[in-house]
Amino acid sequence: MSDAKNSRAKNSSAKSSNSTHFGFQQVGIEEKVTKVNNVFSSVADNYDLMNDAMSLGIHRLWKRSFVSMASLHPGDKLLDLASGSGDIAIKIAQSCPKYGELAVTDINADMLEQAKKNLLDNGIIDKVKFEIADAQDLQFPDAYFDSAFMSFGLRNVADKQRALNSVYSKLRSGGHFWVLEFSHPTNATLAKVYDSYSFNVIPKLGQWLAKDEASYQYLVESIRMHPTQEELKDMFIKAGFINCHYYDISMGIVAIHKGVKP
Ligand SMILES: C[S@@+](CC[C@H](N)C(=O)[O-])C[C@H]1O[C@@H](n2cnc3c(N)ncnc32)[C@H](O)[C@@H]1O
Repeated sequence: MSDAKNSRAKNSSAKSSNSTHFGFQQVGIEEKVTKVNNVFSSVADNYDLMNDAMSLGIHRLWKRSFVSMASLHPGDKLLDLASGSGDIAIKIAQSCPKYGELAVTDINADMLEQAKKNLLDNGIIDKVKFEIADAQDLQFPDAYFDSAFMSFGLRNVADKQRALNSVYSKLRSGGHFWVLEFSHPTNATLAKVYDSYSFNVIPKLGQWLAKDEASYQYLVESIRMHPTQEELKDMFIKAGFINCHYYDISMGIVAIHKGVKP
């Protein structure tokens, strides 16, 4: 078993003792929330620049494919979780300009400020709500949204199953949940090259461009600790979703997951 798989296995058995992982470290659930918040407060100002540098701009294509897979309709109530600097919310608004409501949410106030600024710069203000929200414990009315989106957010959440359950309760019957997340490469050679790039280059890039090596070390470790495509699909099913599918992109470096509320 690889180190990452080994750690993932240890993590699932440690869940009963109220602990989880923060990158490769085992930490308490509350401690993870604080540490993740510190990471995103620290990277907020350089978040967009670093995304472009680390992925050579490819994250834009992944995000475009992600939003284009959803079929959105005029009047839809739409929820973007873990919005970060607002990339997905902007793409949602551009792909469905007659949406009924767009909730732009994040647990971190510094990241949500970046989202506000970027949506405003793109002229997206009408029927938009910005809210601090923990994906594990959403405070919206039940059965409210037509679609929910979460891009590169789920792996940072301390209790992912709780987040999936919470999103499920806020979707109407027939509503879709879409998740875009780093995943696990499907090709062994690519996995080796990708591991080498991730561990040797990304933290150094973080130090060079954002003066923050530790946060980017967390990023690469958190990707290895994220459930596999099949494991995450099972979590969707456990939450109650039907028609659960995933689509590997860039040979599994990222995957798009979809589930429908019956
Ligand atoms: C890597 S960023 C992704 C931002 C954006 N969605 C994108 O695709 O570029 C991850 C975001 O998840 C947020 N986050 C972490 N834990 C969260 C939670 N429990 N609930 C909601 N957002 C969370 C962080 O604050 C951060 O803004």
